[in-house]
Amino acid sequence: MARRYVIAGNWKMNQTPAQTKEFITALAPMVAGKDNCDIVLCVPFVDIATAVEAAKGTNIHIGAQNVHFEEKGAFTGEVSANMLKEIGTEYVIIGHSERRQYFGETDETVNKRTKAALAAGFKVLLCVGEMLDARQAGITDELVAMQVKLDLAGISADDLKNVIIAYEPVWAIGTGLTATPEQADETCGVIRATVAKLYGEAAAKEIIIQYGGSMNDKNAADLLAKENIDGGLIGGASLKTDAFTAIVSAAQ
Ligand code: 13P
Repeated sequence: MARRYVIAGNWKMNQTPAQTKEFITALAPMVAGKDNCDIVLCVPFVDIATAVEAAKGTNIHIGAQNVHFEEKGAFTGEVSANMLKEIGTEYVIIGHSERRQYFGETDETVNKRTKAALAAGFKVLLCVGEMLDARQAGITDELVAMQVKLDLAGISADDLKNVIIAYEPVWAIGTGLTATPEQADETCGVIRATVAKLYGEAAAKEIIIQYGGSMNDKNAADLLAKENIDGGLIGGASLKTDAFTAIVSAAQ
């Protein structure tokens, strides 16, 4: 079975509900009929209900940017899977490097959140990636393989079908520095080989691996042409309808 491209926007902490409605209303006709990839927008929690409503009847799917692992309780500031489910969320980003860097997220909490999200029936965009010092020290492969192993610990082969791995080198996020298509493909290949070790060759062939880090309308086609890159997780360029549409078009 050929892998399907998944082009996902990560809006991070951008756009109000009113701006969300305006954006999706403008984007929908631009990406209509571009059905050779799955199109996802991961929006701030408060925008999800508006986004789901605006995306009804379109080929745009809506995701969140995190989810807590407990069902409910005294976890101030957190949001549970059933809360997100009830308002129509289909995808959830877990383990983004900004969560790891600024909010103390660890491979252990990433693993717990991933399990909870899969149990609730979400598709998970699981983020891994090395910092600049790791790349310069030549330990990218080991580090990324370790993240994949720890983040997927205890997750069944069946549940893995709902996991998409996003390879996001931290040094390429929001910096305008993109990994070269060769660098990105090589590390996505390491991720695929790690999945093969854990779940077998068939699972490794099927799993969708995205690249993220300054992907834009100019570089998307070259990145997406690589064998191990099955999509993109896009920050800045997902906030512009033209650029995002161009990336979706590059995945056709
Ligand atoms: P940029 O595309 O802005 O570099 O962000 C990438 C990213 O972090 C997506 O999750």
